[in-house]
Amino acid sequence: MLAEAVCCGVQVDLSNIGFAYPTRSDIVALQNVTFKLEPGKLVALVGLSGSGKSTLVALLQRLYDPNSGQVWQSLLQRLYDLNSGQV
Ligand SMILES: Nc1ncnc2c1ncn2[C@@H]1O[C@H](COP(=O)(O)OP(=O)(O)OP(=O)(O)O)[C@@H](O)[C@H]1O
Ligand SMILES: [Mg+2]
Repeated sequence: MLAEAVCCGVQVDLSNIGFAYPTRSDIVALQNVTFKLEPGKLVALVGLSGSGKSTLVALLQRLYDPNSGQVWQSLLQRLYDLNSGQV
């Protein structure tokens, strides 16, 4: 056996996110959004049409960067735990 895959995950923290699309800078798409995404947990974004769900996902994918606030990502575990002694 070459390697044993172990659980991996990234925690994402969004802190006071504010965002307006560059083409519509007069319209606030997100304002003061703060929440935490934990590895292995299912999260549902629920809200009215136009409330910013798709925009949030776009920011998580780094299609855009927020105008204010911060997005933190922390690698909690390595993707693979390679043990050369067992190769
Ligand atoms: N590509 C874009 N360019 C400019 N403004 C946009 C763009 N996409 C969304 N918006 C605006 O950003 C705000 C948030 O829209 P968003 O699409 O994120 O809402 P949503 O919660 O995903 O809505 P829905 O439930 O209809 O999918 C709205 O005011 C919307 O008009
Ligand atoms: Mg949407």
